Amino acid sequence: MLDKIKELKAEIEAAQLENKEKLEAFRLRFISRKSIIGDLMGEIRNVAAEQRKDVGQGLNMLKNLATGKFKEAAEELDNLNNNINEAQPDLTLPDVPNQLGTIHPISQTRDKIVSIFQRIGFNVADGPEIEDDWHNFTALNFPPNHPAREMQDTFFISKNPDKVLRTHTSNVQIRMMENQEPPFRSIMPGRVFRNEAISARAHCIFHQIEGLYVNENVSFQDLKNTLYYFAKEMFGSNTKIRLRPSYFPFTEPSAEMDIYWGLKTEADRKITKGTGWLEILGCGMVDPNVLANCNIDPEKYTGFAFGMGIERITMLKHKIEDIRLFFENDVRFLRQFSTIG
Ligand code: DAH
Repeated sequence: MLDKIKELKAEIEAAQLENKEKLEAFRLRFISRKSIIGDLMGEIRNVAAEQRKDVGQGLNMLKNLATGKFKEAAEELDNLNNNINEAQPDLTLPDVPNQLGTIHPISQTRDKIVSIFQRIGFNVADGPEIEDDWHNFTALNFPPNHPAREMQDTFFISKNPDKVLRTHTSNVQIRMMENQEPPFRSIMPGRVFRNEAISARAHCIFHQIEGLYVNENVSFQDLKNTLYYFAKEMFGSNTKIRLRPSYFPFTEPSAEMDIYWGLKTEADRKITKGTGWLEILGCGMVDPNVLANCNIDPEKYTGFAFGMGIERITMLKHKIEDIRLFFENDVRFLRQFSTIG
């Protein structure tokens, strides 16, 4: 009997109770009323009297060992099951909304314009938003008191030293040409400021992209080809352009570029004022005075420049009718310009 007890002790100790089935088999064999330990207990009376005490103690030890092991294993299995239940997702729950932000439509348009020009060798430059009169006006061939200054309603910051909020990105042209040697082939995106009443069409802050190419033998034909390439990349390969003579103090000759928008709908008629054409940008050959102001020899170098409003182009592309929407940052507006999905 004592040998049998030893054997069972080893069996209990070795038992692996890693699942419900094994646990139940263990319970039946060692713990239930009809267990082997129960049977052996029933046989105690047949054991020789002098062994009875040892056998009784041995069987009790087996019982405790088996019950202890059973409890421990049962608890462990229970925990395991609970954890599994927690980790299991409830597939009937509604999806968690994806709260990714979106890139602002003005940034998207800017990035697109920048990449179109980068592909043909333009690099990107920027300059200060708080500017002096020289870089914003005088060096760009706006003479003092010239009425052309009134084309742009300026926010003046201080008189001495004279500081303004730049009214256009053309100031960056001057800073580049003053500080570097030609050739230049750059685009210059940035924020500009004008003292205008805010309405659906105009805002006191907006964004422009300036372009400048200065080298030997740059011609008006180069300007036209560059802008035609841009228009096709930006508005589609069938886009038609036209250049109309215009005036800017810093270019001579100057022009405005229109793209053909069409006259299919009443809305087309309205935004093109019945012509089918839409103005997109201003441009021209850099005025020799501007080159000279930056110590660049106008006998040796020529160049072209252009400037466009990013808001205007974005409004045309997305048929947005109110410029103020760009500055309100209403997420219901911004989310419509998701680039993902
Ligand atoms: N600076 C002009 C404006 O703000 C835009 C412009 C026109 C820039 C012609 C240019 C240019 O470089 O050549 O209205």
